[in-house]
Amino acid sequence: MSAITEVRLRRVYDSRGKETVEATVRTEDGGVGVVGAPSGASTGAHEVKAFPTGGVATVLSGVAGPLVKRLIGLDAAHQAGFDAALHEHDGTPEFSRIGGNTATALSVACASARAVEAGVPLWKVLKRPEVDGRSFPAIVGNCLNGGRHAVGGPEIQEFIAFSSASSPEDSVRAAFAVHHEIGEALHRQLPTHALGRGDEGGWVAPIGNFVALQILADACASVRDRLRVPVYPGLDLAASEFYRDGMYRYREKAVDAEGQVALVAEMVDRFSLRYVEDPFAEEDFHSFAALTRAVGGKTLVVGDDLYTTSRARVERGAAEKSSNAVLIKVNQVGTLTDTLATVDFSRAHHMETIASHRSGDLPQGWLAHLAVGAGSAGIKCGLLGGERVAKLNELLSVAAATGAD
Ligand code: PGA
Ligand code: ZN
Repeated sequence: MSAITEVRLRRVYDSRGKETVEATVRTEDGGVGVVGAPSGASTGAHEVKAFPTGGVATVLSGVAGPLVKRLIGLDAAHQAGFDAALHEHDGTPEFSRIGGNTATALSVACASARAVEAGVPLWKVLKRPEVDGRSFPAIVGNCLNGGRHAVGGPEIQEFIAFSSASSPEDSVRAAFAVHHEIGEALHRQLPTHALGRGDEGGWVAPIGNFVALQILADACASVRDRLRVPVYPGLDLAASEFYRDGMYRYREKAVDAEGQVALVAEMVDRFSLRYVEDPFAEEDFHSFAALTRAVGGKTLVVGDDLYTTSRARVERGAAEKSSNAVLIKVNQVGTLTDTLATVDFSRAHHMETIASHRSGDLPQGWLAHLAVGAGSAGIKCGLLGGERVAKLNELLSVAAATGAD
């Protein structure tokens, strides 16, 4: 028994300067976890509600008091019981009374407190039975931003370096090198433009999707040659964001679902994409399946808004063979227990998982522990910005400690 003696909630700010909730959980034997919840911008329709009506103010004024009372005395070693208490106290399917972000902060803080109390790294508390902690996730590094994360950029939300060396040191080095080379290429191509960076630290430039993809592919090829690391292009299209009236609306052209399957399959072949996230609108399990049939042998086809980390939606995806990978964001479902149920179901159905940050995030490293503990094929946490680098550095620290065991 690892009794919880103190629970606190307070207001903190994410990397966009937006309010969110931080939870502190303490246990009787010196465990402490302090965790803030991140927030998305291109949120999926099936995510739980981040906050109740009224936002963080409602959490702190109305929700916190009775919720904290309910959690004190629970056993931090019994994560499922703690998370069940969050669900019971909320009483709605989408956490609309306490907020999914409140639940996320508390759930991860509980696991963190348990890890501190036991004197083990967090990933060991989260570890799935099949995971030995000796293989590490690829870096899914966002290099160039568009969509909702970068006004004035391409429609495609993220142009990614998928860097999968056997050591995280090499993967991280190569992903940063791609980011740097893209910056140099943009300066060369747009010498009179002021370049910026988007919400996740990727470059923002007034260029179209296909120009951006070519720049990414060239940078990956150059870094592969130079550093001898397998780093290949990837995309998060976040396609629900530019899907209207049955058409995917690019600046260059509009295509229907069938056209989108063909277009993305062509991109996979032409640019050797190894990672393709949300290439279709969030209800279109059917087109996902068509793309997975066509190119699933050579690239990860990843559902984010499609699944919103919900086990029920991943069950449908497994039955329809919609994708070979599942994006994992704790605050899409609100608790670690729900998240790990989706991770376990995915593994049992031969779907890879990718542990992911949100576009509004905090300078904390727990995501690296989730990625390692879940045995994820990738960690998606952006590249630049303190809140992104914190996760990469934490991954390096987990790897260094594991190597030293
Ligand atoms: P979000 O975007 O955190 O803004 O939802 C990230 C993503 O789509 O993967
Ligand atoms: Zn996404």
